[in-house]
Amino acid sequence: MNMGFRYFVWFLLLCIIVNDGSLAIKGVLGLACNWGTRSTHPLSPNIVVKLLKDNGFNKVKLFEADPGALKALGKSGIQVMLGIPNEFLAPLASSVRVAEEWVARNVSSFVSSFGVDIRYVAVGNEPFLKTYKDKFVNSTFPAIQNIQAALIKAGLGRQVKLTVPLNADVYETDTDVPSGGNFRPEIQDLMVSIIKFLSDNGGILTINIYPFLSLYADPHFPLDYAFFNGSAAPVVDGSISYTNVLDANFDTLISALEKNGFSSMPVVVGEVGWPTDGDTHANVELAQRFNQGLFDRVRAGQGTPKRPTPTDIYVFALIDEDAKSIDPGNFERHWGVFNYDGTIKYPLDMGKGRNLVAAKGVKYLAREWCVMAPEASLTDPNLPQSISYACSYADCTSLGYGSSCGMLDARSNVSYAFNAYYQTMDQRKGACQFNNLSVVTTKDPSQDTCRFQIMMDLGKHEKPRSSNGQLSRSQMNSLLFVTVLLVLITSIIC
Ligand SMILES: *[C@@H]1O[C@H](CO)[C@@H](O)[C@H](O)[C@H]1NC(C)=O
Ligand SMILES: *[C@@H]1O[C@H](CO)[C@@H](O)[C@H](O)[C@H]1NC(C)=O
Ligand SMILES: *[C@@H]1O[C@H](CO)[C@@H](O)[C@H](O)[C@H]1NC(C)=O
Ligand SMILES: *[C@@H]1O[C@H](CO)[C@@H](O)[C@H](O)[C@H]1NC(C)=O
Ligand SMILES: *[C@@H]1O[C@H](CO)[C@@H](O)[C@H](O)[C@H]1NC(C)=O
Repeated sequence: MNMGFRYFVWFLLLCIIVNDGSLAIKGVLGLACNWGTRSTHPLSPNIVVKLLKDNGFNKVKLFEADPGALKALGKSGIQVMLGIPNEFLAPLASSVRVAEEWVARNVSSFVSSFGVDIRYVAVGNEPFLKTYKDKFVNSTFPAIQNIQAALIKAGLGRQVKLTVPLNADVYETDTDVPSGGNFRPEIQDLMVSIIKFLSDNGGILTINIYPFLSLYADPHFPLDYAFFNGSAAPVVDGSISYTNVLDANFDTLISALEKNGFSSMPVVVGEVGWPTDGDTHANVELAQRFNQGLFDRVRAGQGTPKRPTPTDIYVFALIDEDAKSIDPGNFERHWGVFNYDGTIKYPLDMGKGRNLVAAKGVKYLAREWCVMAPEASLTDPNLPQSISYACSYADCTSLGYGSSCGMLDARSNVSYAFNAYYQTMDQRKGACQFNNLSVVTTKDPSQDTCRFQIMMDLGKHEKPRSSNGQLSRSQMNSLLFVTVLLVLITSIIC
């Protein structure tokens, strides 16, 4: 084929790809989700953005200004809520200069250079959580004020609004029903000041609500009350009957807002979801039931009894994160609607007969697992130390009681830990040694619900590549140059 013609065909293809995204979103009702990146092997941002579009997500919340994620979201048609981690609150509170710097580097540059549609900045993440013991109580409001000033100074005051994601423990009810809702007394004045400030500047409130955690914390919590189609006895509050805890919880906040003079303050749900592993109630069946109910509500445009107009609901989370802290519980790494690699955990009806669509273009390491050697003994004195070493680097949270691998026998249990480490270490040569207790196999050790994973190939492993078919350095450079040029031309013309 003639070179010029080949590039012309390529150019047409690029045009189609560039335009494809916006088509995917048209005609699909808005869905929102949280995209966290605490993973040993995060999916590439471009694959994630495609995953979002393919599934009709048009709003996404990031926990921090991850440059890769932000760049991939540029010109994607997806609206972004950009989080600021709690550790930044004190410095941001201490000076407007720091806030201006943060906005310049993390908001302005991505909006202007990459076309990222940042709609909200979320200041802190559940800063008033009771377990933080007031650590962020003094810095949150000044940080909000400084970021607001910085946004206005950067000319983004109209475009980018502020919010603060709160845990539902900022309010409570003294009557056991939602209408008794009010803010926790020790932070009530602070809440009122913050809400007034947000409201004056066009901001919103964000609340994280976890029916799963209600169930996790209280074994007597009526299971069905956590779901949207359950048959639990309703909670009767005057003329309203609450049949699920999400509505009741949300309306408790609405009552608190009404009592403090903010009956029209907009509220979105920043996190809600159900994990699939790491606890007896964290499994695929319950997660599917919860998220199907949630997505159905979003599609139906349903609100709560006190706020019948629908609000944005950011499902937690898009994908599993195998490096998250498990302080809250073993389930913490398993909140994804998708597995760590963007594969589907369970089907969800996305409306009009559509199902979830898995991530595309994911590459994997070889089909090889590290397992306990057949000749190794369970009483080997080196075994306990080898397992704890493996599990301190890799994710073993599926091994607990009631989890997806909780039924393994002792040998398979050891194999699971060894394999988790081997995969996390990109199947590197020395990563399946364990004092000669382990061996590499090509036979998949997975059984029933317990999946022995193969890690994604992020190009970190050491296997030598054959030079056959490889391009020389100068060939690579000229190819790169032509590609960059084409992409530039394409994005201007298409
Ligand atoms: C931008 O945000 C990231 C992550 O939140 C942070 O690490 C970085 O320090 C920020 N940049 C500035 C200039 O504050
Ligand atoms: C917050 O500020 C108050 C008043 O200045 C002070 O008494 C309190 O110790 C501070 N709390 C923290 C956690 O810094
Ligand atoms: C609720 O819906 C799920 C599927 O979305 C279904 O499997 C379950 O049986 C339903 N439960 C009740 C009580 O209707
Ligand atoms: C499997 O391994 C986990 C984690 O090391 C441990 O807590 C559990 O007791 C083990 N179970 C069996 C059957 O050996
Ligand atoms: C592992 O086996 C090899 C060969 O049998 C032996 O030389 C080596 O000392 C063993 N290593 C350990 C840690 O047992």
